[in-house]
Amino acid sequence: MPDWTHELPPLPARPARILLFIAMAGEAAPIAHALGLRQGASANTSTSASIELVVPGADPIVGVDRIGPAYASWALTRAIAVRRPDLVVNMGTAGGFAAQGLGIADLVLARDTMFHDARVALPGFDAIARAHTRLSPSDATLDALATALGARVGLASSGSSLDATDGEMALFARTRTLAKDMELAAIASVCAAERLPLVSLKGVTDLVDHAHAGGEPAHEAFVRNLARTCARLAEAAPVLLTALRGED
Ligand code: ADE
Repeated sequence: MPDWTHELPPLPARPARILLFIAMAGEAAPIAHALGLRQGASANTSTSASIELVVPGADPIVGVDRIGPAYASWALTRAIAVRRPDLVVNMGTAGGFAAQGLGIADLVLARDTMFHDARVALPGFDAIARAHTRLSPSDATLDALATALGARVGLASSGSSLDATDGEMALFARTRTLAKDMELAAIASVCAAERLPLVSLKGVTDLVDHAHAGGEPAHEAFVRNLARTCARLAEAAPVLLTALRGED
């Protein structure tokens, strides 16, 4: 039995079309600026060289960004059908774990991902719901990228909530989870189904274990640290994309 439910294809040496998925417009703006990308008004996409930015956009009724796994799957599947990328890159914010040595604005390069809120007591279906996925970069590439970016390498787990239950906290400790977001496992599931390679870099806006122990709630820390963490991601973006494009 492999360790993972899904193992994604290896990184292409020189990808021709990179699709950069970012969940929130506020996360995307500084990263797009750092990469010289322009975001289209209606299609939520833009093109510069071989990088296309995909942002699910705001819901027309509620008026806020379409965060979470369902909209990530929807926007990414649509973009893949139109653009036929040969590499998917995800950047965005996440909760981090102080117990694993992480602090605000630290970076996490995802080695693997899963849905931490998937609980299905049926053989096979438990694995499909959990969707534990090994992302594309080899361990050697992850180490090289982590050194270049000043990032940690490990598990970035996804769920539909900003906070965490007691059971999820136990799972995070058991699996030494470094970061917790709301999209990566959905993106990885789409990439597994489409046989596309995937890389993900997360920036920490809040400390999940501090919040769970009665410290600053995740939503308050997220808002307070969003700009600082996105600036750190924007600084890292050209380094990451240059390395992934196989440029020196
Ligand atoms: N994005 C930023 N912080 C998060 C958290 N604590 N949980 C899920 N997604 C996040």
